[in-house]
Amino acid sequence: MSSRKEQIQADRIPKHVAIIMDGNGRWAKKKGYLRSLGHENGVDALRNIATASAKLNIEYLTVYAFSSENWNRPQREVNALMALLVTSLKKELKTLMDNKIRLNAIGNLASLPDKCQQELDEVILKTRENDHMMLTLALSYGSKEEILEATKSIAQQVKEGNLAVEDIDEVTFTQNLYTSGIPDPDLLIRTSNEYRISNYLLWQIAYSELYFTPKLWPEFKDEDLYEAILNYQKRERRFGKISEQLNS
Ligand code: IPE
Ligand code: IPE
Ligand code: MG
Repeated sequence: MSSRKEQIQADRIPKHVAIIMDGNGRWAKKKGYLRSLGHENGVDALRNIATASAKLNIEYLTVYAFSSENWNRPQREVNALMALLVTSLKKELKTLMDNKIRLNAIGNLASLPDKCQQELDEVILKTRENDHMMLTLALSYGSKEEILEATKSIAQQVKEGNLAVEDIDEVTFTQNLYTSGIPDPDLLIRTSNEYRISNYLLWQIAYSELYFTPKLWPEFKDEDLYEAILNYQKRERRFGKISEQLNS
């Protein structure tokens, strides 16, 4: 066992970890490979981190796999990513079952190619009894779009007389997001030395601890995850209070 892993306090594991898996393209470029090979190695990194997360008893892992804005990449890259999604879903079912991981997806899923939607539905259905960890893929996901969709759905409920304006609160709002039923992330990790959120979980990360690392996603290993969690465990989450109030 690694020393970093031994230092992790089992009773203070973040319940929900969110990751912006960035840097596949730069990793490939550095090695002289095509960008698509970077994405393939990104899938390997995800398999590894999802398995390590489940072993640490993290309950929810939510990863940014494809953003609303990523549709604007060269068509060739978009096609390669969609094809990779299909092959990976097929290939990784066993990993999900072996580790009792339940698959979930958030985003504008209707905008994905039919083949992706079918494969997603199938794996989500096959893994739905798995109760050790929920792995959520954010696909064609944009947080502003999610917030707009929630707003529209709430407005519709008011219009139909099923909800009073006075009753719209944080709980109502949260229930109308794609992430309904999932607690907010405790820790958000972004790889590849970028210090931005890129339209990810804007509402949900209001009080998340943020962790940035220069490691490119394909080279993010178990040890890097342990380091992020150790760093998280050193922090004091005050939620607006003062330190002295926290232990009383
Ligand atoms: C993240 O890696 C994966 C996706 C956005 C699909 P990138 O493809 O953004 O890699 P860089 O940022 O160009 O290195
Ligand atoms: C964010 O990465 C989206 C994913 C990791 C899927 P990007 O590489 O698209 O982010 P920006 O555009 O550089 O901020
Ligand atoms: Mg990027």
